[in-house]
Amino acid sequence: MTELHSDTLVFFGITGDLAYKKIFPALHAMVRRGTLRIPVIGVARDDYTLDQLKARARASIDEHGGGVDAEAIKALDGLLHYVKGEYSEATTFDALHEALAGAKRPAYYLAIPPSLFGSVVEHLSKADCADGARVIVEKPFGHDLKSAQALNGILLDAFPEDQVFRIDHYLGKRPVHNMVYFRFGNTMLESFWNRSHVDSVQITMAESFGVQGRGAFYDQTGTIRDVMQNHLFQVLANLAMEPPVRTDAESLRDEKVKVLRAIAPLAPADVVRGQFTGYLKEPGVAPDSQTETFAVLRLTINNWRWQGVPFYLRAGKSLPVTCTEVVVRLRPPPSVYPQRKTESNHVRFRISPDTTVAMGLTVMDEEDTGSGVVSELHASRHPGPNEMDAYERVLGDALTGDRALFAREDYVEEAWRIVDPILTPNALPAPLPYAAGSWGIATEALTPRGGWVDPVVV
Ligand code: BG6
Repeated sequence: MTELHSDTLVFFGITGDLAYKKIFPALHAMVRRGTLRIPVIGVARDDYTLDQLKARARASIDEHGGGVDAEAIKALDGLLHYVKGEYSEATTFDALHEALAGAKRPAYYLAIPPSLFGSVVEHLSKADCADGARVIVEKPFGHDLKSAQALNGILLDAFPEDQVFRIDHYLGKRPVHNMVYFRFGNTMLESFWNRSHVDSVQITMAESFGVQGRGAFYDQTGTIRDVMQNHLFQVLANLAMEPPVRTDAESLRDEKVKVLRAIAPLAPADVVRGQFTGYLKEPGVAPDSQTETFAVLRLTINNWRWQGVPFYLRAGKSLPVTCTEVVVRLRPPPSVYPQRKTESNHVRFRISPDTTVAMGLTVMDEEDTGSGVVSELHASRHPGPNEMDAYERVLGDALTGDRALFAREDYVEEAWRIVDPILTPNALPAPLPYAAGSWGIATEALTPRGGWVDPVVV
């Protein structure tokens, strides 16, 4: 353990849904890999005993973590502690102070609603728990630019920016940072990765399921806030950024924030929203809700490399497949062969469910008619059994103090600046209905030249 490594992980919200679905499996995987050896103190309002918490951890790992490993669960049990209490009461933080047992570099993971951040951070400072500590915060990081600035203000009052780790689990996905690796680890792309050759970029994040019991949360959030302003903007930044001058966290984050700075705030004409039929009947959803479950955004990056190239982002629930994929379409070649279809070349990055990098090229068709067919050169793989899950990666990095995969204050605020104008109430018309299981809404104005490429999952 280096001197930058946290010496205790304190988890606010350990009895919640995120802990159950993602965090216990990640902690279990870290113990198994030998990267978690520090105490884990759970804090929550629920009346749990430590044994009940351990039982919940086991159930979570069984259900979402591919099953319990006897050695690892024994070790994890030995690391777990529980402090029960209200986030607004000083006694909770006195008990936490005691449980910390003199820890010098605790990491506080706030997997709780942002409305509680202020109270928790204030109590941590008052109970003398903030010195030397770092804080890890979950999305949603604010609801708009103003609330994100207010949250940043609260956190930065108690912690320096270099000790604030804002999680976007998409950054922990291997294929997402493979995009940067692939771009800058090869010479091939760079020669055409610019406005002279790229015609359009499309990024699709499709999910074949609905809101899965999260109606109350989702109805306050909608697709643009839930996955576009954060996850898809990160993908966009990786595709569009300039090579970093060095590979340290700040050099990488500088380049990403420069991409966002070059994007103008969105106008209503750059957005189409949809809502799947049946959404209004979901528990927790307002009967007259105008929240989108599908959206298309069109952005332009006004810099030397990308000016004039449209970037289309499309995301939605209840679509035909679950898949996240990028297609970068090149300008068509001049037509030397008169009967040849004027297909463009493309580069395709698939982020999930499998990792693919593919190049689409036109080759002569089998019958030699000269019309040509598009064929892809593929490099694909399915995640291996030992592959790190996104949460394991981001938690591990936060504990070691590596900031590269976390959103910096200026990045988060730039991202909100871009979407803010379309998120103000009544800025947009009501979402259009689409049939569950269809590809949502396609309008001519917001369709890439040559059409959408709907991902096919086999
Ligand atoms: C979350 C969103 O941040 O990301 C969910 O709140 C979405 O609505 C999820 O389903 C997708 O993440 P993943 O890792 O399953 O692709």
